[in-house]
Amino acid sequence: MRLILSLLLLVTATYSAPNIVVVLVDDWGWSNNGIHKGDDSSQASLETHTPNIDKLYEEGIELDRHYTYKICSPSRSSLQSGRHPDHVNPLNTGVIVNNPDDPISGFQGIPRNMTGIAEKLKGQGYKTHMVGKWDAGMATPDHTPMGRGYDSFYGYFQHANGYWNKEGHIESTGDVDLCMNMFTDLFMENATYRGGVLESGELDDSCSGSNEEDPACYEEHLFKTKTLDVINNHDVSSPLFHFHAFHLIHTPLEVPNSYLEKVDAMIAPFEFDDAARRNYSAMVYYMDEVVGEIVDALKAKDMWDNTVLALMADNGGPLYLPGSGNNHPLKGGKYSDWEGGVRTNAVLSGGYIPEGSRGGKYDGLVSIADWYGMFAELAGASIDDPKAETANKWLDDNDLPTLPPPDAVSGMFDSITSLSKENLHPILPLSDQAIIKYPYKLVTGISPYSNWTGELFPNCTTVTDEDLVPWHNDSKLFEFHINWDNDDEVLFMHLWGEDCGDSGCLFNIEEDPNETNNLAGDGSDHDETAAELRGLLEEHRQTLFMPDRGVEDVKACEHSVSIGGYYGPWVDVEDYYTGPFRELTLKQKLLSKAYEEFLEIVSHPRVEEEVFAIVQKIYPFVMRPYLVNSFDYCLPEEEKEGGKAMVE
Ligand SMILES: *[C@@H]1O[C@H](CO)[C@@H](O)[C@H](O)[C@H]1NC(C)=O
Ligand SMILES: *[C@@H]1O[C@H](CO)[C@@H](O)[C@H](O)[C@H]1NC(C)=O
Ligand SMILES: *[C@@H]1O[C@H](CO)[C@@H](O)[C@H](O)[C@H]1NC(C)=O
Ligand SMILES: *[C@@H]1O[C@H](CO)[C@@H](O)[C@H](O)[C@H]1NC(C)=O
Ligand SMILES: *[C@@H]1O[C@H](CO)[C@@H](O)[C@H](O)[C@H]1NC(C)=O
Ligand SMILES: *[C@@H]1O[C@H](CO)[C@@H](O)[C@H](O)[C@H]1NC(C)=O
Ligand SMILES: *[C@@H]1O[C@H](CO)[C@@H](O)[C@H](O)[C@H]1NC(C)=O
Repeated sequence: MRLILSLLLLVTATYSAPNIVVVLVDDWGWSNNGIHKGDDSSQASLETHTPNIDKLYEEGIELDRHYTYKICSPSRSSLQSGRHPDHVNPLNTGVIVNNPDDPISGFQGIPRNMTGIAEKLKGQGYKTHMVGKWDAGMATPDHTPMGRGYDSFYGYFQHANGYWNKEGHIESTGDVDLCMNMFTDLFMENATYRGGVLESGELDDSCSGSNEEDPACYEEHLFKTKTLDVINNHDVSSPLFHFHAFHLIHTPLEVPNSYLEKVDAMIAPFEFDDAARRNYSAMVYYMDEVVGEIVDALKAKDMWDNTVLALMADNGGPLYLPGSGNNHPLKGGKYSDWEGGVRTNAVLSGGYIPEGSRGGKYDGLVSIADWYGMFAELAGASIDDPKAETANKWLDDNDLPTLPPPDAVSGMFDSITSLSKENLHPILPLSDQAIIKYPYKLVTGISPYSNWTGELFPNCTTVTDEDLVPWHNDSKLFEFHINWDNDDEVLFMHLWGEDCGDSGCLFNIEEDPNETNNLAGDGSDHDETAAELRGLLEEHRQTLFMPDRGVEDVKACEHSVSIGGYYGPWVDVEDYYTGPFRELTLKQKLLSKAYEEFLEIVSHPRVEEEVFAIVQKIYPFVMRPYLVNSFDYCLPEEEKEGGKAMVE
């Protein structure tokens, strides 16, 4: 009888499991979202046009305290693995690192043998698909989306690529890797094909600069098309898990011209005074339209009523050049643990949300790791990860760091949909530098981007006054971090550095969400609170997952040449690639020949170091002015002469 009952329950559970659609927006600032702008007729409100997302909030639940990591790859690794970012991948290394001595964790991204959310849902009968930015590892087939349980994947592996040419050039990733950014970063995986995207119309940048309404080679157009295909072709006898990971609103700030015209018209009689902010605004507009189309497709297919749609940003808006996001009135941005860097836009919506709670706001803390637990439980699966536990026996025997279990809390969906006042995260570490014990938050050490921005940011004043917009602090040549200046003090100032020291700065983020009032050392019982949070942070620091991930691997680049000039897995790839492989053009062949010779010379640690030393010396004089001047300028363009000269 019991057995029959549980079988019955199982069948009903499987039958009613909702579709789950996850939409992740990249580098999307707090105030680049309509609901944080109000709907007055100010220029700042008009510039932030997100009607489709506003509607998701109206029909869903606003997650007012959704916390992510301060940068992309850790947040994405957390979302997929259910671990706190510090317990899976707190780094933003390049994709081609490898440490052959650790076959489980010696790579970028999520270690092998952690169970991804797609694998979990697949085990519950879901069809699983992903489109867009991965950035959670690609070294072996186990690291790719398919290796993590997605039935299909169409997208790219690195932090970013070109929206038009789909290459991993320096303007996209900020890095020059050992492969010299030579290859295409657009890949496909399914049951019958695994390799670089071959369709020439999808690969090339032939539509760049076109005045068409929605040019077909724009990367977001391709992503949208693939996602709509997945929905339209879905057989509704199984539930769907779909992950749409936008490239938008990440750099490079490339967008069809028609969208620039749209936002110009939208804000009239106001005008944009700043080129980068205008592009960012147009990219938000495009992104929001895609969200609308995804919702419409789910409705047209009669799937909406049984769908949970989760939309969130992976970190706060980047304030540096050329990031151009804005988190006003929150302090700081991407790369910092200030609220502007880690408290991000998020909404839980879809027809599956109980009617009584629609339009509500959930004030409890939600970690980006929690989605894993929420989706697993919605699908009737447990949160724990036996596969990782099995691997831990082997890791332990081999003296390698063991894999932490998932951190996602149980019961998050019910807590949110009942708008519960109980906080499931009384304590939430943000990184090895910061922690929340609500309503208090402690930030320690040096943080970049420790400042507030105005309502309109960046703007023509920030173009002309260097002090008002910070520099980027994560450019790399091979493994080496490049400083934008050789003078530490100048650098610190231009990164908007703030040093809270080991003892830390303390804020009450409930009363003071803008983090304007540092309570540490004010002589009251706040000192005790600060000491308690320091203790909790120290405990968290003992749990960081920091395996040796190795160094950049020349073999990754050589392998890229052999598969037609794409970034892709290069370790343990027997039986992985299906072919056919793209024929390299004559130019590419010559280039790759020259490149192989070059690799021979350059890929010695000593030579790498010497090349780096030279680049670092001249960087502030050669590269920095070039980059700063091309990243942003005043509009209308004639004003450029008045401000900084544009690079020709
Ligand atoms: C896999 O992708 C290839 C290339 O786009 C396509 O031709 C094929 O139909 C796909 N196979 C499946 C099973 O979806
Ligand atoms: C804005 O987008 C256009 C079209 O993609 C591009 O040509 C231009 O360089 C971009 N401007 C900035 C400042 O990024
Ligand atoms: C945060 O800053 C905004 C904009 O300046 C202001 O309207 C708001 O009152 C501030 N919040 C608090 C609690 O001080
Ligand atoms: C890790 O997972 C792979 C693939 O599932 C498996 O073959 C391997 O034995 C696992 N390794 C350990 C140490 O458990
Ligand atoms: C800039 O980045 C370097 C390397 O990651 C780091 O050591 C330094 O603290 C950063 N500077 C600031 C002001 O955050
Ligand atoms: C331009 O940006 C600066 C720096 O954030 C800010 O102080 C100023 O208010 C902004 N200008 C406008 C018009 O918002
Ligand atoms: C912070 O921003 C204000 C203007 O918004 C500016 O006056 C100040 O110099 C900035 N501080 C730093 C450290 O850049």
